[in-house]
Amino acid sequence: MSDRYQGFTASPIGKLLVKNLGLPNPMKLERYVEGAPLVDGTVAVGGRGRLAESLPGLLDLLGIASTTAAEAGDGATYKGLVFDATGLTSSSDLHALRDFFTPLLRRLGKCPRVVVLGTPPEQVSGAERVAQRALEGFTRSLGKEIGRGGTVQLVYVAEGAEAAVTSTLAFLLSPKSAYVSGQVVRIGTTGGTLAAEVPDWQRPLDGKVALVTGASRGIGEQIARVLHRDGASVVGVDVPQAADGLVKLMNELDGDWLTLDITAKDAPQRIAHHLQEKHGGVDIVVHNAGITRDKKLANMKEDGWDSVIAVNLTAPERITRELLDQGVINDNGSIIGVASIAGIAGNVGQANYAASKAGVIGLVDSLADELKNGITINAVAPGFIITQMTAAVPFATREVGQRLNAMAQGGLPVDVAEAIAWYASPGSTAVNGNVVRVCGQMMLGA
Ligand SMILES: NC(=O)c1ccc[n+]([C@@H]2O[C@H](COP(=O)([O-])OP(=O)(O)OC[C@H]3O[C@@H](n4cnc5c(N)ncnc54)[C@H](O)[C@@H]3O)[C@@H](O)[C@H]2O)c1
Repeated sequence: MSDRYQGFTASPIGKLLVKNLGLPNPMKLERYVEGAPLVDGTVAVGGRGRLAESLPGLLDLLGIASTTAAEAGDGATYKGLVFDATGLTSSSDLHALRDFFTPLLRRLGKCPRVVVLGTPPEQVSGAERVAQRALEGFTRSLGKEIGRGGTVQLVYVAEGAEAAVTSTLAFLLSPKSAYVSGQVVRIGTTGGTLAAEVPDWQRPLDGKVALVTGASRGIGEQIARVLHRDGASVVGVDVPQAADGLVKLMNELDGDWLTLDITAKDAPQRIAHHLQEKHGGVDIVVHNAGITRDKKLANMKEDGWDSVIAVNLTAPERITRELLDQGVINDNGSIIGVASIAGIAGNVGQANYAASKAGVIGLVDSLADELKNGITINAVAPGFIITQMTAAVPFATREVGQRLNAMAQGGLPVDVAEAIAWYASPGSTAVNGNVVRVCGQMMLGA
């Protein structure tokens, strides 16, 4: 499945029309290639706060070259910018953002990455809280104007979680986050494995077991591939009708499989039993299986409502509960939901789907504080991702859906998979309770 408009804009006639008519001009995004360095270029580091001193060392651990803008001199260009804003304690301090970014924005390469580090506003008070909250408007606006396939994120790092920022920087500074922009990530202190203890950043999931539902095709297939690339043994689940594709893929990935309908009464028990007996437990649980049955609420049939809620929400709830109650999820494990932008912004004809996906966000909220032993729960909220699910959307709606974001294009299943691999990394045990949109900074529900 491809974006034909993007192909057209790359042709000579397409280029001419884009230029003269001011049409959207989607840039070909850089995506991570296995074995490549995380960042192909230098990252300029600035700001003065809790993280400034440790940042060059953390980046070095990831094999990322960094410099301060002053050290690099006038002619240098950068692949990324990281600004430590944790030292900004009043609105007048916000001037430091302009001072750092304005001269550097013209010196960025293609698909640049910008990360601003702040303190969670609720952890501070008075003028400092105001300044820290202001960072959100700054990063979201810069995300909309940076262009050239660039991304901009704000990472709120709790006091005491400074050393746990590494896996998040690895994701947000690399092409793995190609379609993630304008997001706010929160890093807390959950007391799992410290980021610095990850032995191999190229294969962070070595020795881990990952369950992926709906793994036979689309986004689920890419999640399985990326988790396998990062070292995990994947157990794919899908309905019996999808067995051929599932078995073929799992054989290719040296994985294991289970064919069942996740809404079946005994599905949670069967999954828990399989993981315990054959794998001695599970480290990563990805609730990816999902369906749509779109109809305006006035025309909604009972089955269209019930099936969507059952697959997208009740099944993940029941499976998670069973795995936790039976102690099948290993210490420092991660549970990951797949929500949707529809669950944040709402969508015509998707009251059932949007309710189910907002419910997935509710599941994250309800469990994030309850989980023990370093287990985390987070979700991704994909925007328009080019798959068989979205191929079924009528042409005009699909075209608008693909262009209504800062990158003027749909994302790829691999973009969702990379975000999930970041959550799953043993370096991300302090990333808990987050919902990150993989949507190219979509204008809806922003
Ligand atoms: N494609 C998008 O743009 C988009 C956007 C937002 C969210 N999502 C979400 O991403 C996830 C994957 O979407 P996709 O586009 O790859 O869809 P897809 O239809 O291509 O794949 C979904 C998979 O889930 C499996 N599945 C469905 N019902 C099941 C059940 N009862 N038991 C077991 N497996 C079941 C299907 O057989 C299929 O393999 C879904 O949760 C979807 O809601 C997709």
